[in-house]
Amino acid sequence: MKITIKDIARLAGVSTTTVSKVINNKDESISQATRDRITSLMKEYDYTPSTVARSLVTKKTNTIGLIIPDIRNPFFPELARGVEDRANSAGYNIIFCNTDNKIEKEDEYLKILAEKMVDGIIMAASSKRDERLATVKGYSVPVVLVDRDIDVEMDYVKGRVFTDNFKGARIAVEHMINQGVKKILFISGPLTNKASIERLEGYKYALKENGLEYDEGYLLEGEFNEDWGWEAARAAVETGIEFDGIFCGNDLIAIGAVKSLKEIGLSVPEDISVIGFDDIYVSRLIEPELTTVRQPKYEMGFEAVEMLLRILEGKRLKDARLILQPDLIIRDSVRKG
Ligand code: RIB
Repeated sequence: MKITIKDIARLAGVSTTTVSKVINNKDESISQATRDRITSLMKEYDYTPSTVARSLVTKKTNTIGLIIPDIRNPFFPELARGVEDRANSAGYNIIFCNTDNKIEKEDEYLKILAEKMVDGIIMAASSKRDERLATVKGYSVPVVLVDRDIDVEMDYVKGRVFTDNFKGARIAVEHMINQGVKKILFISGPLTNKASIERLEGYKYALKENGLEYDEGYLLEGEFNEDWGWEAARAAVETGIEFDGIFCGNDLIAIGAVKSLKEIGLSVPEDISVIGFDDIYVSRLIEPELTTVRQPKYEMGFEAVEMLLRILEGKRLKDARLILQPDLIIRDSVRKG
């Protein structure tokens, strides 16, 4: 029969509360002799306290929730790896949630994770939200946002870790312009996503800084996936828009666009230059290898947990908003001069 905390208390001649305090290292007033007696009985009878019982006393589960929008996209597993490495090294487990970019699922997971008493949450928001879509009121679990911000002030959001998306887009488009590309489409992810909005602003800024007009007919908004890249590139060619370059909202879009252009008989980069965003591992495996903007994916996840741990330990944050730097990764999908 499984030994319980009651049996240990009876054998030690103390209350279950005393045993629980010894297990959770509470209440210095308990004598060392009593502590030693209890711990030796626990060893002798191979008693392991229930984590649920421990949580009810300590109000901690040593668990962190991770909410991301699309596990299929290789961007997120690299971010999740940074989350898991830093959490694990601090003795925390992860509960992983995939929202499919749906606010309803995201709200559902926020509630479920609170019910499971996670100590904190790392979240890549499905949408920037606005007042109409403000999420659960009076939410108490601290959240650190990664990758994508929200536009609504939420008291439970205690920190943010992002890439400088504006700068990433700016250096990508400037690179194409410097190579002689002049008519650049922007095949974007959803503009309900803060990262997409910042990339659009960086695209516009680079055009303007180089004396090129922004034409909203060159903005094609869709999903962060290869199907959208394929479809948008095909549509652009078929509608006869004159272009010699495509800035893509992420690498999956770029991979789809390259495939579509090649199927139409256009060569990359000779006819059309293409640049991506993220630098997921697949971007090195396609032909031509993708020129792109590297996001510090692993570091983003790692630093987000670092920030959350400081919050959970009640430490002051140097800055509750950490902006990481993107890098231009030049490969073969943009013309060379
Ligand atoms: O590839 C998925 C995109 O969604 C990435 O660019 C990342 O920044 C996230 O916003």
